[in-house]
Amino acid sequence: MVQPYKHEPFTDFTIEENKKAFEEALKQVKEELGQHHDLLIDGDRIRTDNTITSTNPADTKQVVGTVSKANEDLAEKAVQSAATAFEDWRKWDPRARAELLFRAAHIIRRRKHEFSAYLVYEVGKPWKEADADTAEAIDFLEYYGRQMIELKEGKPVESRPGEQNRYIYTSTGVAVVIPPWNLAFAIMAGTTVAPLVTGSTVVMKPASNSPVIAAKFVEVLEEAGLPKGVLNFVPGSGGEVGDYLVDHPKTALISFTGSRDVGTRIIKRASEIQEGQNHLKQVIAEMGGKDTVVVDKEANIETAVDAIIVSAFGFSGQKCSSGSRAVVHEDVYDEVLEKVKERAEQLTVGNASEENVYMGPVVDQGAYDKIMSYMEVGKEEGRLVTGGKGDDSKGYFIEPTVFADLAPDSRMQQEEIFGPVVCFTKARNFDEAIDIANNTEYGLTGAVISDNREHLEKAKYDFHVGNLYFNRNCTGAIVGYQPFGGFKMSGTDSKAGGPDYLALHMQAKTISEMF
Ligand code: NAD
Ligand code: ALA
Repeated sequence: MVQPYKHEPFTDFTIEENKKAFEEALKQVKEELGQHHDLLIDGDRIRTDNTITSTNPADTKQVVGTVSKANEDLAEKAVQSAATAFEDWRKWDPRARAELLFRAAHIIRRRKHEFSAYLVYEVGKPWKEADADTAEAIDFLEYYGRQMIELKEGKPVESRPGEQNRYIYTSTGVAVVIPPWNLAFAIMAGTTVAPLVTGSTVVMKPASNSPVIAAKFVEVLEEAGLPKGVLNFVPGSGGEVGDYLVDHPKTALISFTGSRDVGTRIIKRASEIQEGQNHLKQVIAEMGGKDTVVVDKEANIETAVDAIIVSAFGFSGQKCSSGSRAVVHEDVYDEVLEKVKERAEQLTVGNASEENVYMGPVVDQGAYDKIMSYMEVGKEEGRLVTGGKGDDSKGYFIEPTVFADLAPDSRMQQEEIFGPVVCFTKARNFDEAIDIANNTEYGLTGAVISDNREHLEKAKYDFHVGNLYFNRNCTGAIVGYQPFGGFKMSGTDSKAGGPDYLALHMQAKTISEMF
């Protein structure tokens, strides 16, 4: 019997022993930094002259590691290898595939702080965020393993006298997995193992800001016993390798998580039938967000302030779920704004590989420049309440920033900034607050802070987001507890970590026999 699923507990860093253990992991990983990681194709390690260098965004001179970089020829080899391996892998007992995931989860759990330390160095995560990212990666392995065991026999359908009907799930084929850098471990691992456990084979192209953590994860799956060719690891440019993999006629499934622009481009390209292609490509595309915390006039103000701070500034606002908009009832607007300002000014910002700060840097120069350019837009469109400054002399640090009095349709309230910036808009009443919250092209997460039960009931139907939270922050969904995925331009609502997720990676087959 497999034990029931339970999510991986987070580490309490206020306990001295945990703090020391994490500092030790940071020290150890620091000594390993700078190593090179090869491609993995058909079980072979392949080294290329072209490489991607991953650096610490908190200290840009510190090289976290280098990875070999694939081109179209190597991407082609990877797809062919995955297509060949599929014939055996799909026939593995689903339970054996699930057990491989459980084994990998154990390996990661034993080395949990080591993986979290890599996240601190590679994408600048504060300890708490790094720990949660690693815990979520473990959760995906444990949860999808169990889900595959449940799906093994298919789902019940009716039979009639003299007729036996079955409804089963079959493996799809070659899956191309393209994850983002922000949940650099969890999403990369979750989107890789979901197709694997269903019997598909995978070509994974990691994000260029986080290829080292992906390489470390590939090593774990090899150690857990993954046969050759079943997972192929091909870091490379989105434009070259990404497009090639998406277009390939043997690609059967694409699992993408990232920005709206790249996601919609993939959906479009995947719908073009290529020469030699004899199937339709399945596409899972989870994309951006412009997520709102709504504060009602009948609300616990401390809960509201807490929800806005955590949603806006956790991992420097670099989550698709980040609450970058606060829409607040006019009766409590000034009070909430003042308290959010006070709290934002107390947050610590720095290099998490040196100290346990609340916020680290943003991920790279491009992100830094983009976010800083929004500071100017914010000053034109609204009122800067606190923050607004950045420093990219050593790493990409930006102050927690609050803008007030933004029009609902301003750029600041419409465009995904993906940084530590929250924008306030005043609402005359609750209905208007929900209308403003819905007034973006995205529909990923949202929170309502209210003690009014009727208003919460209204929000259940009218607040059009995939993940709706009441009286808490709008970030931090937990696998198996809050399945995650968005409406509208936020994506295909695949609900990662939810009961329907694996079925999206498979093909349902009806078998009917007359006796
Ligand atoms: P991105 O779209 O720039 O990149 C995502 C991945 O796509 C990367 O691996 C990148 O190399 C690859 N890519 C780039 N161009 C490509 C192309 N032409 N063909 C194929 N692949 C290509 O996004 P990002 O900066 O890595 O991540 C941030 C974005 O991801 C934000 O918009 C955020 O909201 C979104 N996100 C969404 C979710 C979700 O579950 N909805 C979760 C995390 C992040
Ligand atoms: N699943 C992540 C969250 O909920 C993105 O914050």
